[in-house]
Amino acid sequence: MEPAPAASGAGSPLLAVSDLAVRYGRAVQALRGVTLAVPDGGIVAVLGNNGAGKSTLLRTISGTCRLSRAVIEAGSVTFAGRRLTGVDPGGVVTAGVVQVPEGRRIFGRLTVDENLRAGGIRQRDRTERARSRDRVFELFPLLADRRKQRAGLLSGGEQQMLAIGRALMAAPRLLLLDEPSLGLAPRIVGQIAEVIGEINRQGTSVLLVEQNAEMALELATYAYVLELGRVSLEGSVEELRRTDQVQRLYLGGVDPGNAGAAARRERPALRRWVANG
Ligand SMILES: Nc1ncnc2c1ncn2[C@@H]1O[C@H](COP(=O)(O)OP(=O)(O)OP(=O)(O)O)[C@@H](O)[C@H]1O
Ligand SMILES: [Mg+2]
Repeated sequence: MEPAPAASGAGSPLLAVSDLAVRYGRAVQALRGVTLAVPDGGIVAVLGNNGAGKSTLLRTISGTCRLSRAVIEAGSVTFAGRRLTGVDPGGVVTAGVVQVPEGRRIFGRLTVDENLRAGGIRQRDRTERARSRDRVFELFPLLADRRKQRAGLLSGGEQQMLAIGRALMAAPRLLLLDEPSLGLAPRIVGQIAEVIGEINRQGTSVLLVEQNAEMALELATYAYVLELGRVSLEGSVEELRRTDQVQRLYLGGVDPGNAGAAARRERPALRRWVANG
């Protein structure tokens, strides 16, 4: 296996998660010693089935896990050399890490503009705020057209765009994306993937949690597979595509050269992505 980004010689990573153990109440051990890294400027993917611990991981990094009564038992989160473990959600945003939560969670009764303003609330500099908004409207021209519309009236894909746009209003150095493709039509998944790529090219690092492995492996250079709260596999995307585990569980179970065909047969979400990719 190729060395993890943390050890790839490029200095210390932007985000380093080390041996993280998190549980809910007494019974549910959601993370059991997770270690991962995101290099500055990179896109790293985390794959895993339902209940693997993906959202718990992102919520722990963003400091929002406490809201769901999660307890960090062990381990640490370090961002740009600063310890983030136990920092409150606002402090994490100020540090430069912004999460787009699972299921978007935009404010349905507020307009597109108001949602964006809420995302930039910690940004005190007016010029910076205006710059972030211009960037969001450039990435998502559709949001500019709908700025006075109530967000609850947007389609699922448009709401996902707004959720990402709202996160960008805080001008993050690292964006945490929790299943941005969930429940979206294939063409829209393609559009979202393109924008994530563009956001990254503009300098924002990305930690992308996905069940849509094909989309995630298309975007990322390095990926981790999470199973029952542990990293069961990690490597460069090229390596992971070749492993039996990723082939079998996420890419439809045939040889890598024919992964697309298998996907069309066996995984509806992936079939849509491949058909439009
Ligand atoms: N608020 C909570 N209270 C108790 N248990 C929880 C809570 N949130 C998640 N869990 C449990 O923690 C484990 C990991 O859940 P998590 O939501 O992190 O998984 P996931 O990989 O994001 O799954 P999915 O793909 O379905 O979103 C699961 O067993 C889940 O039931
Ligand atoms: Mg989840």
